[in-house]
Amino acid sequence: MKILITGGAGFIGSHVVRLFVQKYTNYHIYNLDKLTYAGNLNNIDDIAQSPNYSFIKGDIADSNFIIELFKKHQFDGVIHLAAESHVDRSIESPMDFVLANVVGTVNLLNASKLIWGESATDKRFYHVSTDEVYGSLGKEGFFLEDTPYDPKSPYSASKASSDHFVRAYYNTYKLPVVLTNCSNNYGPNQFPEKLIPLFLNNIIENKALPVYGKGENIRDWLYVIDHARAIDIVFHQGINGETYNIGGFNEWTNIDLIKLLCSIMDRKLGRSTGTSEQLITYVTDRKGHDMRYAIDASKIKNELNWMPSVTFEEGLEKTIDWYLDNKDWLNNVTSGDYQKYYQEMYDTKG
Ligand code: NAD
Ligand code: TYD
Repeated sequence: MKILITGGAGFIGSHVVRLFVQKYTNYHIYNLDKLTYAGNLNNIDDIAQSPNYSFIKGDIADSNFIIELFKKHQFDGVIHLAAESHVDRSIESPMDFVLANVVGTVNLLNASKLIWGESATDKRFYHVSTDEVYGSLGKEGFFLEDTPYDPKSPYSASKASSDHFVRAYYNTYKLPVVLTNCSNNYGPNQFPEKLIPLFLNNIIENKALPVYGKGENIRDWLYVIDHARAIDIVFHQGINGETYNIGGFNEWTNIDLIKLLCSIMDRKLGRSTGTSEQLITYVTDRKGHDMRYAIDASKIKNELNWMPSVTFEEGLEKTIDWYLDNKDWLNNVTSGDYQKYYQEMYDTKG
């Protein structure tokens, strides 16, 4: 089996690539990544020399390049993670999200259809998506696989659009697709623009912790390795045309989560209790900030026997230890352009 994984130098993709390269030594894994600011080959340098692994630098938004790549390698399966993934950046530059997330996905669908033909049976196109496509919940309820789409941010609108195209190719051309919509991931190798790694980095550096609004928004958190395990299971056992929601059964208000991070960091850094909490700074809310995401993951649990394998406490400990043990990684990604990004994104919120 020749499997193309897109976005494998990013946060989640790097964990998926590692899992597949190490577990399926009879597959050849091709990792296609543009290496944007979020893509980092250091994330997977431990498996870079494996005989069943190849890296390809390229842009999924470039249709000619994608067609030629598929003609050359004749992939049997695609696991598609490459995307622009940060909501705040989507508010600043929506078109980047249309190109990577919508155009990029349609290019991959077209190339798969070209190579596999219509009604292929022994192939698989796996599209990795987010729970944000369902919109924002109030205090009650959960997102189910048939919850109507109601995306609210340019990021979630672009992911929703890509999901619609994937389902349209299943319906129209019988392309063998499967989709998952997952809640917020955390873990090693996440770029420090997302809440958990950003705040860990700021605590280490004694910088303000910018809490949007009142910190009352709720997210469901899943350890990235458990997402990678779910992707493995759905890729091999999911049913064509089906969608599976993936979640951590683990809802937190931002402020409670941030206080927990502060207390663990005080302990790990040998600071007295309450030191890091003093860094909490309430700033202007994100535009159109979704209030609550909550996934009902019973379908994947009941039909494919997947469950998170680590508790939130265990996952956070592992994550925090990783960032403390990998300060070089953090220093590397927070040098250069990161400083400019941080200033532009946060100086106005203050
Ligand atoms: P990330 O931003 O860390 O990584 C994205 C990767 O895609 C990077 O390596 C980047 O270089 C690559 N990429 C971006 N544009 C590209 C292009 N045009 N061509 C080729 N490569 C390109 O993202 P992530 O958090 O790892 O998310 C991966 C996928 O999972 C995305 O599709 C995202 O929507 C989805 N997802 C993420 C979360 C989460 O909490 N992070 C939750 C659910 C779903
Ligand atoms: P984020 O990690 O960007 O994920 P998403 O918006 O895709 O869920 O943000 C998680 C939550 O944390 C979200 O409610 C926004 C909030 N947040 C802050 O309060 N401050 C910040 O600096 C960031 C990046 C996020």
